[in-house]
Amino acid sequence: MTNIAVFASGTGSNFDALAEAIDRKEVEAVISLVVSDKPSSKVVEKAKARGIEVLSFQPKDFGGKAGYEQVILGACREHDIEWIVLAGYMRLVGTTLLTPFEGRIINIHPSLLPAFPGKNAVGQAFKAGVRVTGVTVHLVDEGMDTGPILDQRAIRIEQGDTEEDVQRRIQQVEHVLYPEVVGRLVKGEAETHDKTGITERF
Ligand code: GAR
Repeated sequence: MTNIAVFASGTGSNFDALAEAIDRKEVEAVISLVVSDKPSSKVVEKAKARGIEVLSFQPKDFGGKAGYEQVILGACREHDIEWIVLAGYMRLVGTTLLTPFEGRIINIHPSLLPAFPGKNAVGQAFKAGVRVTGVTVHLVDEGMDTGPILDQRAIRIEQGDTEEDVQRRIQQVEHVLYPEVVGRLVKGEAETHDKTGITERF
């Protein structure tokens, strides 16, 4: 069975969706480790309640990114982690993790990338007045939400929608899309297409 690590900073609704899909045997993987840069976050509570090993830390207790990522790398190796799944992990991943896990770290972002990268993507879309936004799952590289796209799903912003309405519909889509993509990845059936039309299988 494929060991995956989920990295999260917040509520952990995407962690829940993935864990439930695994429970239903829709994804052939085990969440063997949860990593959080917010020790008091809900996701830490949820992971512990499921009996999953948690590595939580305060970034300020370390000299810099390389310091805490070295600890994370050690835990990932100890648990034989094959895929790192970022689920609301609000930090850029540095080379300490990117190099050994090249092409093996994925992220979910609440917009149709390359539109609205970074923080508050739903708010950015809402303010821009777009009529369609959505969700992207992509491989992580050194940039901010810039890696090769694995899958996307669109949602419409309807007349009269509030930002909260859009946020809720985005999350509903995320909770279906992320387990689907992780399921394909662990079976070696996920693909990216680059701008020259080359397809790469993961
Ligand atoms: C999700 O909506 C995810 O797309 C977003 O954080 C939320 C985490 O929610 N991630 C980003 O904005 C990354 N740039 P959750 O903790 O309930 O899963």
